[in-house]
Amino acid sequence: MSQKDAISKTALITGASKGLGRELAILCAKKGFDLYLVALPHSNLPYLADQISYHYKVKTEAIEMDLTDEQQVYHLAHTVNKNGSLELLINNAGAGGTAEYDTSPLSYLENLIKLNVRTAAVLTRLVMPALKKAKNSYVLNICSMAAFSPIGYKTVYPASKAFLLSLTMGLREEFKSSNIQFSTAHPGPMLTTSSSCKRIIKQGAKARFCLLNTSEIAKICLESMFKGKAVIIPGFGNKVWFWFMKLFPKKFVKSAMTQSVKNELKENQIQESAKSSTTTA
Ligand SMILES: NC(=O)c1ccc[n+]([C@@H]2O[C@H](COP(=O)([O-])OP(=O)(O)OC[C@H]3O[C@@H](n4cnc5c(N)ncnc54)[C@H](OP(=O)(O)O)[C@@H]3O)[C@@H](O)[C@H]2O)c1
Repeated sequence: MSQKDAISKTALITGASKGLGRELAILCAKKGFDLYLVALPHSNLPYLADQISYHYKVKTEAIEMDLTDEQQVYHLAHTVNKNGSLELLINNAGAGGTAEYDTSPLSYLENLIKLNVRTAAVLTRLVMPALKKAKNSYVLNICSMAAFSPIGYKTVYPASKAFLLSLTMGLREEFKSSNIQFSTAHPGPMLTTSSSCKRIIKQGAKARFCLLNTSEIAKICLESMFKGKAVIIPGFGNKVWFWFMKLFPKKFVKSAMTQSVKNELKENQIQESAKSSTTTA
């Protein structure tokens, strides 16, 4: 994207090729934002960027890069800062997963921590010059309902989202008299990745109660953020779940959630070993 004109506004959205990021990108374009869209290489991002540009008459730039690579994050921030002001940063790209901690591959832990924790914190810091240049700017960090309680067998995922929540609230306080406003959003289950789809289908009524489609979640997130809300919990089911977690003893909530994930993990392991014994038979 070349130097901006005075009235245009720009958003940077990480993890924009699919899922919630894609919906956020479309909504931002509908609101007239020019877009920097980020995803890994070979994710069809340039095609999405062209489509958005064509339909909503905004400028888009598809940036295919690995957000876990520090040098590439520096380069991204440099590009954004040199082009002028940034009115909106959405740290959406995130990784998740379920695993026994002591046997989980280190690459899984490192990728999750780099993407969910380090990149979000560092990128926000690096694009501060562009955020400060805008008349009003917003930072929206996509967390999860998992930010509100530790969960065994998910361990680093809820910990990473709790970090992001704490980071955002700290920044909100630190910058309360500035032009930059910080918010977090806490979606519940979303039918985006194949693993989240499988998990939601297995969980049945419990997951369906909290389920919203991604475009609805994106709309709630952006509307609430522009209204100045600090912590955004989309949907009635998730709000009920939030209050349940707040009002019930933490010990009980942690233990019930961990047990449920443990059961899921066991079931998956049984299915995997059944599959491998049929293929080797
Ligand atoms: N799914 C759920 O049930 C759920 C629930 C609560 C919260 N959340 C959170 O909501 C956010 C979006 O979730 P989602 O399910 O919509 O995600 P998703 O469908 O898995 O999409 C992830 C996006 O991040 C990009 N990405 C992943 N690793 C990257 C990397 N190293 N460098 C650059 N881009 C990378 C992906 O790009 P490629 O297309 O190139 O892979 C993709 O655009 C995440 O922060 C997630 O933790 C998800």
